[in-house]
Amino acid sequence: EDAVDRAIAAFRRGDPVLVHDAADREGETDLVYPAGAVDADAVVRLRRDAGGLICAAVPDDVADAFGLPFLEDELDHPAAADHDLGYDDRSSFSLPVNHRETFTGITDDDRALTIRRLAEAASTARTPDADYDVSDFATDFRTPGHVHVLRGAPELLADRRGHTELGLALAEAADLPPAVVVCEMLDAESGGARTPTAALEYARRNDLVYVEGADLVERLG
Ligand code: 5RP
Ligand code: ZN
Ligand code: CA
Repeated sequence: EDAVDRAIAAFRRGDPVLVHDAADREGETDLVYPAGAVDADAVVRLRRDAGGLICAAVPDDVADAFGLPFLEDELDHPAAADHDLGYDDRSSFSLPVNHRETFTGITDDDRALTIRRLAEAASTARTPDADYDVSDFATDFRTPGHVHVLRGAPELLADRRGHTELGLALAEAADLPPAVVVCEMLDAESGGARTPTAALEYARRNDLVYVEGADLVERLG
């Protein structure tokens, strides 16, 4: 059993997986959860042990059903005019949202609720004849909010190889709802990205799976 098989099995159990994109891309390892498995304890692990930005990724067709655009296409502000990311052609950021049943949106319980409801809505949006549209999304969620939605590239790994697409490809391979949570693992002391060696060490210590983006691309791309 290789790391990709172990990652798929972990996802099916609802366990997080550590995904390193590539040394010549961000060079980051994200802690990635199937969104349906995120409870308040998972949010604690994400903010304490990962420490980056907690985001929920959905594929392109689901984002369309939700009416969620790429943020950079919508902002009419000069800061959004120049897309000069050093590591990719475009950012996958869409809107930040809260489920309407949250209060402030930032607590562990609130973020977990928003994330789980996003997973439910994503799976409904994919159900044939379910007809979940932008007005259903607006009934369920508000923006601005505290969970950043990321929108996957249309052809996933064939188009883009960010954590957004790597995580979504893993959820698809595991036959799970099309929604994942990703969060960069930062070094608690330096604030820089955790090195792959340190991330692997964290995975071993916590009995979690670490997988290279290139291996996911090779098997699932
Ligand atoms: C949001 C990010 C992360 O890097 C996240 O992994 C999603 O981005 P990408 O798909 O570009 O890797 O910047 O915190
Ligand atoms: Zn990333
Ligand atoms: Ca990043």
